Amino acid sequence: MVEPQHDVLIIGSGAAGLTAALELAQSRKVLVLAKGSLTGGSTAWAQGGIAAVLDAGDTFDNHIRDTMVAGAGLNDRETVEFVIERAPAAIDRLCELGVPFNREKLEEGGDLHLTREGGHSHRRIVHVDDATGWAVQEALLRAAEANDNITLLPGRTCVDFITGRHGETYSGEGRVWGAYALDEATGQVEKHVAKATILAAGGAGRVYQFSTAPRGATGDGIAMAWRAGCRVSNMEMMQFHPTCLYNLEVKNFLITEAVRGEGGRLLHPETGHRYMVDYDKERMELAPRDVVARANDDQIKRYGLDYVHLDISHREPDFVKGHFPTIYEKLLGLGIDMTKQPIPVVPAQHYTCGGVPVGLDARTDLPGLWAAGEVTESGLHGANRLASNSLLECFVFGEAAAKDICAHWDELDAPPPIRDWDESRVTDSDEEVVIKQNWTEIRRFMWNYVGIVRTTKRLERAAHRIKLLSGEVEDYYGHFRVTTDLIELRNLLKAADLIVRSALARHESRGLHFTLDYPETDEVARDTVLVP
Ligand code: FAD
Ligand code: SIN
Repeated sequence: MVEPQHDVLIIGSGAAGLTAALELAQSRKVLVLAKGSLTGGSTAWAQGGIAAVLDAGDTFDNHIRDTMVAGAGLNDRETVEFVIERAPAAIDRLCELGVPFNREKLEEGGDLHLTREGGHSHRRIVHVDDATGWAVQEALLRAAEANDNITLLPGRTCVDFITGRHGETYSGEGRVWGAYALDEATGQVEKHVAKATILAAGGAGRVYQFSTAPRGATGDGIAMAWRAGCRVSNMEMMQFHPTCLYNLEVKNFLITEAVRGEGGRLLHPETGHRYMVDYDKERMELAPRDVVARANDDQIKRYGLDYVHLDISHREPDFVKGHFPTIYEKLLGLGIDMTKQPIPVVPAQHYTCGGVPVGLDARTDLPGLWAAGEVTESGLHGANRLASNSLLECFVFGEAAAKDICAHWDELDAPPPIRDWDESRVTDSDEEVVIKQNWTEIRRFMWNYVGIVRTTKRLERAAHRIKLLSGEVEDYYGHFRVTTDLIELRNLLKAADLIVRSALARHESRGLHFTLDYPETDEVARDTVLVP
């Protein structure tokens, strides 16, 4: 037996990973690894805010109902209650860490300002202007950097978990003892051994050609967990955000749902028709995201448009600038004055609802491995995530993972001797072009064949492409030294495979999974669970 340098290994420095790290660091030594920079995950990019019941007229029951309606009944009610009831405490902790949430004027009481987003029946989104994620990421990082029990190591791309029986395929049996990670500066693969490992590696948005997610959202965590033996569930539930900026230069800039929450209207760019009336007369622009994204997609395809318009120019310029300063400045730099003009928008992939199944204690199928955040399928989101529920999930499950590890610390065995990464049989790549070509191809066919509206024929086409590429990528992986690009390509392809297999397995339309071949919704909601 060896004593590792750190008690707990955390993969990911976003909201989920750092929340867990701060909780654990009260009693344990923690190592946090991040691919690229410490602020490279989706957390730093979040705009709208965090959902929590904080208004006197609102109730947990309302928030639970809105979450389940958006999730089309596929949510796990126990999980939904677990998360929503912990939301106010999570916001309190963030305030203690110094997150400068917007507040009402002092003379009006100075309470937290609550904005509104699609699918919410009440104002319940706390926010820091329109750049909430950056403020949260900064506060969490500041606290982590100041904590002697936390070591932060950016520039590390994890390749695979270290498991009890590395290299074999099994489910629910292999013990996880940490991970192998590529040092992006030296090209060496290091082993990071720990008694407990938390996976907080974010989603797989970049599997699609158009996505609001950052470059590193390549499904690494989901693919690693699958290869180690974890099940994955509901991977067909990929969320598309209705309003990503349409711009030939800037491809993934989100226009927050809060713009619609504060009165923004969706208009046909040529006729000016406010078309949501034709899709969801009651909720209009504030219908859940799947409904609005499908409406935008339908308008674009039906009328051969490049984009639709999102217009908030009817509101006072000072109100618009005051609420959306980041978006206002960004658009102005691109020649669009949103106080006077409509914004051209298109739908784009935004959030991975499926992932590694976890219980309320954040445990995965594998002993020694916990998981939190977008990499998981906790039962909170069901078939479609309610806006601003995902950062919340990170805080609640990051804390749950840490608490469960601490509560069971004495039961965890010390790791056995772990062998070094073996690269005696690989050489440097001589064909980097293969990586770029395959990466582009995957993202394109996923967008065209596995997008907002699906058919069995298109899914089968995608499955066929994935089969061909898998042989090529595994062959490449077996022969050449790993690089971040290669690791990501392998994971991207695995994520695509899991999405397509899950989509083919669901013979109904529900929430984010809409197929022309099975347009009806089954009476009973069932998770799609794939077993390795
Ligand atoms: P992330 O924050 O994505 O962090 C993932 C971490 O894992 C990173 O540190 C990354 O480097 C690391 N990592 C990944 N792969 C590896 C690897 N192989 N090895 C080592 N490290 C790895 N949600 C809301 O609730 N409200 C919002 O307003 C909101 N706005 C959003 C706006 C945008 C543009 C986007 C893209 C998402 C938004 N979301 C929002 C969703 C939300 O931001 C994410 O779901 C959430 O931040 C995920 O946090 P996380 O900790 O799970 O992962
Ligand atoms: C947004 O600001 O529209 C994104 C909110 C979210 O993804 O929850």
